[in-house]
Amino acid sequence: MPSRSVPGAAGYEAAPNIALVKYWGMRDERLVLPNNSSLSMTVGGLRTRTWVRFDPGLSADRLWLNGEPAGGGPLQGVAEFLDVVREEAGTRQFAEVRSDNDFPTASGLASSASGFAALAGAASQAAGLRLTPRGLSRLARRGSGSASRSVFGGFVEWEAGHRPDGEDCYARPLLPPDHWPELRDLVTIIADAPEKAVRSARAMQDTIRTSTAYAERLRSVPGRLANLRTALRMRDASRFLELLIAECDDFRHVCETTVPSLDYLTPASRAVLAAVLDLNRTAGSPIAGYTHDAGAHVHVFTFEPNVAEVEGRLRSIPGIASIRTLRPGPAAHPIPATGPAS
Ligand code: ADP
Ligand code: DP6
Repeated sequence: MPSRSVPGAAGYEAAPNIALVKYWGMRDERLVLPNNSSLSMTVGGLRTRTWVRFDPGLSADRLWLNGEPAGGGPLQGVAEFLDVVREEAGTRQFAEVRSDNDFPTASGLASSASGFAALAGAASQAAGLRLTPRGLSRLARRGSGSASRSVFGGFVEWEAGHRPDGEDCYARPLLPPDHWPELRDLVTIIADAPEKAVRSARAMQDTIRTSTAYAERLRSVPGRLANLRTALRMRDASRFLELLIAECDDFRHVCETTVPSLDYLTPASRAVLAAVLDLNRTAGSPIAGYTHDAGAHVHVFTFEPNVAEVEGRLRSIPGIASIRTLRPGPAAHPIPATGPAS
């Protein structure tokens, strides 16, 4: 039974995640229930910190995002999410929310995942709900599907579940952050990456309606998921990299066959994909793999001792603003309730 103590204030930190097997398509948009299970790596080195304070004197929710007062879509997303928290906690109080992403917002680096995982943690605590990690994952899912995975660290699987009420739809940790010490995620930050025009939640429903490749994707994902799980557990680098590329190519294919077509990549992103394939051809076996979510930045996975060689190759590509070398990151966790001043 959730506790219903007096609402107060709380802070929470969460990291984004990169999907290795993507969630794309919902069977229930209100409850954010996906058509397929997905698997991700929570990334270390990028983070969202969020503070929530419920206040009986407020007549509406307020949001400061990255130090600026926010309205429009971001405020609406937060307010709708807080409605879910209010309903569960049995309170009608509005809240003041302050949240900082220490990486670009809405550019394909999954700020919505870390943002809603951190908000779920801070808002549920501030509202007096004492959720289990699984309960927190279910709650975060309501803000952004991928946020359900950012509740956990390391490698994480989000179960699609079957129930119409979503009770069996939550993420769970698969392998801890230190499982594969040689693994690196070189995130190529694309210089002219456009801000996302359409939230993924909407774009994926366009895919369901219009892409002729989507049904086949749904048939192939469970097998790829099982194979990737095994490659991860066995630390089978070649198999892992091959599966990563195959899954990303399939995701891109359903995006490109959506009407109107979803094209998230820039010429520089495409040059990164080509460079990875070329590196692997030259090496004679996979030494790197790529994946991207609904954005232009490309995550290039590789392993020591090949990191320097792969990074050197990526640095020669024009149009890349920077390369961040990331490792698997930690689970979402509480931080002190006193945030930055307004
Ligand atoms: P991204 O790839 O960064 O997830 P999206 O367009 O899918 O891009 O999601 C970005 C949206 O997520 C923002 O416009 C905002 O509505 C929401 N968002 C991002 N960061 C936060 C945050 N820290 N707190 C609350 N909402 C956030
Ligand atoms: C391609 O859950 O981030 O990253 O509700 O728009 O925030 P929003 O959708 P979101 O969609 C994720 C799509 C993806 C794949 C994935 O992360 O599994």
